Amino acid sequence: MGRSLATQACLLVLLCSATAWAKNSRWERVLQAGADATVAQAPAAPAVSSGPLGGMAPAPAPMMDGPPPLPKASDALALTNSTLNQLQTLGTYQSDHVTPPMGVMKLLNSSSYQQALGGNPYYAPESFQYTLPDIFFQLDALGIRQFHFNAWKDPNGTLASSPAGLKLAGVTNVTLDPKYSYFGYKTFGDPDFDFQSSCVTVETCLQLIQSWSVNHTDHIPITVYLEPRETTIFGNSASINQQLASQPGNPQQLAVPYPIGADDLIELQNTVYRVFTNQSDVILPGSLLGNYSSLQAATQNGVGGSWPMMDDNRGKVLFVLVDSTGKYGPLYRQQFPDLRNATFFVSQPGNGNATVDNSTVFLDFLGPLGGSTVATWTNKSANAAVKKDMASVQDAVRKGYMTRVAADWQTVEARENYYNRSLGAIKAGGNFIQTSFPNVAQLPTFAYSVKGSSNTTYTSYTISLPLRLGGAFNAGRCNPQTSAGIVANETASGCGSAADNALLTPAPAPAGAAST
Ligand SMILES: *[C@@H]1O[C@H](CO)[C@@H](O)[C@H](O)[C@H]1NC(C)=O
Ligand SMILES: *[C@@H]1O[C@H](CO)[C@@H](O)[C@H](O)[C@H]1NC(C)=O
Ligand SMILES: *[C@@H]1O[C@H](CO)[C@@H](O)[C@H](O)[C@H]1NC(C)=O
Ligand SMILES: *[C@@H]1O[C@H](CO)[C@@H](O)[C@H](O)[C@H]1NC(C)=O
Ligand SMILES: *[C@@H]1O[C@H](CO)[C@@H](O)[C@H](O)[C@H]1NC(C)=O
Ligand SMILES: *[C@@H]1O[C@H](CO)[C@@H](O)[C@H](O)[C@H]1NC(C)=O
Ligand SMILES: *[C@@H]1O[C@H](CO)[C@@H](O)[C@H](O)[C@H]1NC(C)=O
Ligand SMILES: *[C@@H]1O[C@H](CO)[C@@H](O)[C@H](O)[C@H]1NC(C)=O
Ligand SMILES: *[C@@H]1O[C@H](CO)[C@@H](O)[C@H](O)[C@H]1NC(C)=O
Ligand SMILES: *[C@@H]1O[C@H](CO)[C@@H](O)[C@H](O)[C@H]1NC(C)=O
Ligand SMILES: *[C@@H]1O[C@H](CO)[C@@H](O)[C@H](O)[C@H]1NC(C)=O
Ligand SMILES: *[C@@H]1O[C@H](CO)[C@@H](O)[C@H](O)[C@H]1NC(C)=O
Repeated sequence: MGRSLATQACLLVLLCSATAWAKNSRWERVLQAGADATVAQAPAAPAVSSGPLGGMAPAPAPMMDGPPPLPKASDALALTNSTLNQLQTLGTYQSDHVTPPMGVMKLLNSSSYQQALGGNPYYAPESFQYTLPDIFFQLDALGIRQFHFNAWKDPNGTLASSPAGLKLAGVTNVTLDPKYSYFGYKTFGDPDFDFQSSCVTVETCLQLIQSWSVNHTDHIPITVYLEPRETTIFGNSASINQQLASQPGNPQQLAVPYPIGADDLIELQNTVYRVFTNQSDVILPGSLLGNYSSLQAATQNGVGGSWPMMDDNRGKVLFVLVDSTGKYGPLYRQQFPDLRNATFFVSQPGNGNATVDNSTVFLDFLGPLGGSTVATWTNKSANAAVKKDMASVQDAVRKGYMTRVAADWQTVEARENYYNRSLGAIKAGGNFIQTSFPNVAQLPTFAYSVKGSSNTTYTSYTISLPLRLGGAFNAGRCNPQTSAGIVANETASGCGSAADNALLTPAPAPAGAAST
């Protein structure tokens, strides 16, 4: 089914040569101009033209070899009079993720590393074991319209250019993509161990989306979550550094991540504009604000709120800065009060205790369900957590928030064949149903033992959205919580008008999906 790894590797090699050119023409000039030039001014409202950072390389030509094995996802969903938050689309988590080399996985599984990990479920090696198809395949064949990329600051191109994990594991047959030594934001799970990525730099990942977008001008809007990262798996562990120092040749240390400050968020924003050079291709927070006092006031004035019309935003992309820790939202708002002149929307956890700022209209419902480690995971406690999340998601969606809801987390659901979470998310009206398993053909052929679980391998778990009437494979569907009159029955003319939606009365928390 899926394209072979060899084809994907070939795709990357060709992209590499395209971006190598970009590196010479752009980054070297940046270096000559001095590092400060990379922290350019926030772009003003009009389209960013070629300033000192301009001269963008042409978007890499996509290298499709033959027709994709799955039918193309259709964006032809009729959404006349429908607003953005009436959509429900499928998304991926760490959309560029490639499972670490088996040697590195085995190293992480060894008892001394397990001890160093301290049982932190976020860093359990089994949570790294998934590989997503490349970005074009996700867009074309799987209908993915929501992406998520980590963003690690890497001003010198040294953060992951020589991952310690390869050295410690004695893996010598992995050739790193040259993009690991480029300057600028990188995307992967961890610079030393979970470093494999299908696009490596945030800029390349965005270029892939942009080059697809210009050819599909009618696509329903694509939402891209960018998550600043500055914490590694082992921190700067002294014991692992000692092991590294005792290796023959080129002793090295674990990667020390760069902290991300206010200027760096502007640089992340500049990265977006280097790719999306026409600002009218981006849905900006300011376009919703108008005369409202806050983004919440703008989007929560009745069900449907004042989110813009879907049909007016076809072919566009929307960016969300993920603030899971309470650090980046305030830093970003310092520079863009109310987000009026900002590029990014900001997302905050919806299932935590964070105080949600009045400029936050994107909520995330992620994290482990039913136990904090694979070993303590149970179906029963997962079901209880699903019910709780469903009530919160439905409440948020009906207020006018856009929600990103996990269908699975750290591979647990895919090993347990547990679908209640995704069914609950879909029914509760999650706008973005986010999975690491959108394509069953992509399941690893050799799955890794999971400690404490009866399941040591993957099931046939895979997530897609329900088909519309007539079985058409659409990239999106009407959101059951914000679409009047069509709950469970999408019509040919759209998801219901904003006026219809104002008539929606708050419904009781959905029940049923998680009843077992
Ligand atoms: C980046 O590299 C330059 C030149 O090699 C060096 O002077 C500088 O200290 C490095 N910066 C960081 C943050 O590592
Ligand atoms: C690298 O070597 C390991 C162990 O011999 C092997 O399993 C793996 O397939 C090799 N990887 C590549 C990319 O050649
Ligand atoms: C975009 O269209 C051009 C011209 O038809 C084609 O050569 C290119 O492969 C297309 N790119 C994508 C990403 O579909
Ligand atoms: C930017 O996009 C808008 C809307 O698609 C278009 O009207 C305009 O001509 C574009 N500007 C440039 C410089 O390409
Ligand atoms: C905002 O308020 C100003 C002054 O009251 C008014 O002129 C303008 O039309 C309003 N804009 C919108 C988008 O409502
Ligand atoms: C929104 O919250 C900010 C603090 O983050 C506050 O300064 C501002 O007054 C609030 N705006 C409204 C309309 O409540
Ligand atoms: C937003 O930008 C406009 C024009 O660039 C400027 O006049 C205005 O003061 C800015 N508003 C904020 C809140 O920064
Ligand atoms: C929220 O706060 C409650 C009460 O303090 C606490 O029990 C719970 O663990 C917190 N939840 C999260 C997700 O932090
Ligand atoms: C995985 O675990 C679940 C629940 O324990 C079980 O129902 C399922 O059959 C298991 N799958 C495999 C392949 O072992
Ligand atoms: C991981 O370690 C456990 C024992 O701790 C072992 O049973 C399992 O086979 C190991 N998995 C791999 C892939 O090495
Ligand atoms: C669903 O929509 C179809 C086509 O518009 C219509 O024929 C059918 O009666 C509707 N079903 C329900 C339950 O509303
Ligand atoms: C869209 O809204 C307009 C104005 O309210 C209405 O005339 C039209 O019938 C609506 N179209 C659809 C397909 O619902």
